[in-house]
Amino acid sequence: MALLLVTGGCGFIGSHLCAALVARGDEVRVLDDLSTGSRANLAPGASLLVGNVADPATVRAAMQGVDGCFHLAAIASVARCTEAWLETHRINLSATIAVLDAARAGANGPIPVAYASSAAIYGVPELVPLDEDAPARPLSAYGADKLGCELHARVAGVVHGVPSVGLRFFNVYGPRQDPRSPYSGVISIFCERLARAQPIAVHGDGRQTRDFVYVADVVAALLAALPAARAEAPVFNVCTGQPTSLLELVASIGRVCRTPPQVSHQPPRLGDIRHSVGSVLRARQALQLAPPVALDDGLAQVIAWL
Ligand code: NAD
Ligand code: UD1
Repeated sequence: MALLLVTGGCGFIGSHLCAALVARGDEVRVLDDLSTGSRANLAPGASLLVGNVADPATVRAAMQGVDGCFHLAAIASVARCTEAWLETHRINLSATIAVLDAARAGANGPIPVAYASSAAIYGVPELVPLDEDAPARPLSAYGADKLGCELHARVAGVVHGVPSVGLRFFNVYGPRQDPRSPYSGVISIFCERLARAQPIAVHGDGRQTRDFVYVADVVAALLAALPAARAEAPVFNVCTGQPTSLLELVASIGRVCRTPPQVSHQPPRLGDIRHSVGSVLRARQALQLAPPVALDDGLAQVIAWL
């Protein structure tokens, strides 16, 4: 049994991770400011420190005595990061440095850190599927800060010997992703609208593709990644390798709900990426990951949760 810190453990992905850690017998400490997460999401058995991950003293206190840290707290909305550039930079990058800095001062040597990066570091893909060596050309403050996390994790390893591993999540979906948030992902929005018998809005021709990864697969990747943390600061895509077009997604949701969706076609979103799909090869090999949850099975879980 280990004592593990999960920053952002009251959020969408963090709450699923904490439940899995408690289930396997670990002691879990959560640091969360409850800004987008909620107390209701806290996994039974986990303890909660309400505080700001951008505050170094708070992070040092939260890291006391832990065997490892999953750092997920961030402002996950790209749109919010565009609006509040400097404020979100302090949370998305400076707070990661605070975590890595605290990790170098572990009582028994540096503390391993697994942290959330994002497919947003790639910007517009030149070629899909994207492997980890594809050029990183972020197009948003959010993506730039996530890339910054990877660079500082590298520095933490080289200069201070902190073992880390970065996970570039693609489009994550699953229960507890708030469909009412204006920044929610397309799957939560579509499932909720269908459940309320409302039309769903497809932006553009619907032939754009995404790599939708179910939250349980993200948790499995996080669990496998922490023991793989190294001073060399490896990074891995967390994705399925399967492109799904929006039209295919709409058809899958209709199939799972047994209700033909009403679709309203809307103009394309400004700057919408046409195709975003990751390569799973490196992560699958290094982290021994099982095949991903099929889209229809993941959608059924979201619909059951709504
Ligand atoms: P989320 O908003 O549900 O979770 C983030 C959690 O961090 C929330 O509980 C929030 O209250 C907490 N938090 C935010 N600012 C904080 C602060 N200053 N101090 C302490 N806690 C704070 O988002 P999520 O979707 O679960 O994302 C988790 C991580 O995964 C984030 O780092 C995000 O950038 C990354 N990510 C998510 C996706 C996705 O598709 N959901 C894709 C790529 C990367
Ligand atoms: C995600 C981020 C986005 C970021 C991008 C770059 C989220 C929710 N969005 O966008 O902020 O810029 O990664 O890495 O994390 N769509 C519809 N109808 C809707 C909602 C969405 O047609 O009601 C379409 C979008 O135009 C897009 C696709 O669905 O083509 C997926 O949208 P979304 O879930 O927002 O994810 P990304 O576009 O990948």
